[in-house]
Amino acid sequence: MESSRSNNIVVKVFGSSVSYMRRWLFRALSVGAIPRHVAFILDGNRRYARKWNLGEGMGHRAGFLSLMTLMKYCYELGVKYVTIYAFSIDNFKRKPEEVQYVMDLMLEKIEGLLKEESIVNQYGVRVEFVGNLKLLSDPVRLAAEKAMELTAKNSRAILLIAVAYTSTDEIAHAAQQSCLDKIQMRSGFCFGFAKADDDAITIRLGDVESHMYMGVAPDPDILVRTSGETRLSNFLLWQTSNSLLYSPRALWPEMGLRHLVWIVLNFQRVQPYLERRRKLLS
Ligand code: IPE
Ligand code: MG
Repeated sequence: MESSRSNNIVVKVFGSSVSYMRRWLFRALSVGAIPRHVAFILDGNRRYARKWNLGEGMGHRAGFLSLMTLMKYCYELGVKYVTIYAFSIDNFKRKPEEVQYVMDLMLEKIEGLLKEESIVNQYGVRVEFVGNLKLLSDPVRLAAEKAMELTAKNSRAILLIAVAYTSTDEIAHAAQQSCLDKIQMRSGFCFGFAKADDDAITIRLGDVESHMYMGVAPDPDILVRTSGETRLSNFLLWQTSNSLLYSPRALWPEMGLRHLVWIVLNFQRVQPYLERRRKLLS
């Protein structure tokens, strides 16, 4: 009894000195520019499970733990927007058991995010699900909608979770919505039967952009894909023309503090150039 109490004290003292050192490190990093928006492609979960001989699906569970840790570090550091590619439309083509496992895990974790003690409540995070949510099963979609509704008033930070998402689907959807808007605005117009040239619909860049799922956030400063892969895999193609792409060798569940520090240092190295390019294009 006595020894477990002193063990607890040691753990607490160790924990608070680690978080003190982290805060000190983040303060030093904040002398330079801190990215406003970091997007992650969470790659390498299954490889992690194979590497450590874990059961099927355990890699995804380990990946969720590193997601929570990295989110906490990002918010401590002052990164306002974090976007994660959690499940792409193409991922639905994986083995049905795997899809089911990931969906069950997602449901469990979305419900967990809404608990009092969750990181979402601790840091005042608004959760936005981005993607073609109609493709999700009813329970997952309803949980996602509930999470968005319950966190809608939070404004300190925003977590964008891309599920049932691909960039091409987002662009096609935004283009369709822009057309529908214009058609609705023009009374007496019959879809597909423009009578004269002045009946033609003009869709501008701004129309499409206003219908993007990602429209709630500025473009990412950095896109990180873990596990050494350098493909974009149909993620944020529209939004990353001026983002730094970064590809650490670590598998997603291995990502931790030192990787995040390295990401920020890399960003700070190119930030003046990215800023100049943005100003030039705006
Ligand atoms: C990404 O990790 C997780 C999902 C988007 C479902 P992977 O499942 O792609 O893991 P690897 O790349 O095969 O190791
Ligand atoms: Mg992969």
